[in-house]
Amino acid sequence: MAGGAERAAASAGAAAVEVRGVVRRFGDVVALDRVSLAVRPGELFAVLGPSGCGKTTLLRMVAGFEAPDEGTVLVGGEDVTSRPPHRRDVNTVFQQYALFPHLSARDNVAFGPRAHGAGESEVARRVEEALRAVRLEGLGDRRPDELSGGQRQRVAVARALVNRPRALLLDEPLSALDPALRRELQGEIKRLQRESGVAFVLVTHDRQEALALSDRVAVMRGGRVRQVGTPRDVYERPGCAFVAAFVGDANLLPARVEQVDTRGTRVRALGAVVSAGETGTRFAPGDDAVLAVRPEHLRLERAGSGAPGVAVCIEEIAFEGPSLRCLLRTADGRALSALLPAAEGALDGAAIERGASLVATFEPGAARLLPADDEHPADADA
Ligand SMILES: Nc1ncnc2c1ncn2[C@@H]1O[C@H](COP(=O)(O)OP(=O)(O)O)[C@@H](O)[C@H]1O
Ligand SMILES: [Mg+2]
Repeated sequence: MAGGAERAAASAGAAAVEVRGVVRRFGDVVALDRVSLAVRPGELFAVLGPSGCGKTTLLRMVAGFEAPDEGTVLVGGEDVTSRPPHRRDVNTVFQQYALFPHLSARDNVAFGPRAHGAGESEVARRVEEALRAVRLEGLGDRRPDELSGGQRQRVAVARALVNRPRALLLDEPLSALDPALRRELQGEIKRLQRESGVAFVLVTHDRQEALALSDRVAVMRGGRVRQVGTPRDVYERPGCAFVAAFVGDANLLPARVEQVDTRGTRVRALGAVVSAGETGTRFAPGDDAVLAVRPEHLRLERAGSGAPGVAVCIEEIAFEGPSLRCLLRTADGRALSALLPAAEGALDGAAIERGASLVATFEPGAARLLPADDEHPADADA
């Protein structure tokens, strides 16, 4: 699939897909609330968020199946807001393979180029190329009911990519597949995106999928984009408690800011005063805040070692191969999660066993201080 690089060069500067201030209401529900996003040419952009946050509505709006109440949709820098779907240079792969059941895989893939009036030899060449790209060469004669779920989804991707769109829109394309196949097709999607040079917009509620595949990810909640960044950005530098907890496991500790200076911010959390490493102007002494600490950043040390930290008791330990997942309980009854290396000797003498009393600590740089005024993540799926 040639063309990606040339296209990127031809429309240099223009986003492959962009939405500006789009709003979509369904009665009282605000499915999209002033969403603005720009997907760069040739990038794999994930849209991640819980069920009902507006992901499908956003994708349908870009594809043209849904009109915004306010705002603008651009494809390749052109305003397509009032254009019908077939006049937008994008293709969509849906969650359920929307293939023509009576047509062979080959004829399903040929549908777009034929509809655009390509000659039969050109159609044949492009279809074979697309089937080869999704590793279905040799299966072109089969009808959808003669293919597995994963193979059908490959046909759906080939059918979209054969049109060489400026962007491919994928709405939870793997969610109907079992986990092993899902992993395999994740790798395929990443490879196809790279080889084709086409921008992919991948909608998913699966954080592992979004983080593993994307160049950048937009995290949505309640019709709004909460944060856009690289997977590492949103995981290591979440801007709010919701993003912290949605993109990974997080201990969210209520904290009170005690002192702010150039070396960082001192906060009181779980009865201990700890340094949160965070500088800047977001916080002032006396502010309520949330301290987010990833389980892999909690360390356990022997009680009485003098280390500043929080006294905890190990309530449960789950062996996960490379790591031990420990459920910890503080004296005032709060649950914490710690992920420790499972390799023997990694823990410097602290006895990691159920019932052990230890001190939980973390490096200042590993904790992220966040505003307390965000809604609680527990209602994320409401
Ligand atoms: N056609 C529709 N009519 C009424 N409400 C809708 C319609 N489509 C979506 N919604 C509502 O808009 C919100 C966002 O839905 P959707 O975009 O499907 O979310 P997601 O894909 O993230 O699960 C939900 O509250 C949903 O119930
Ligand atoms: Mg959806």
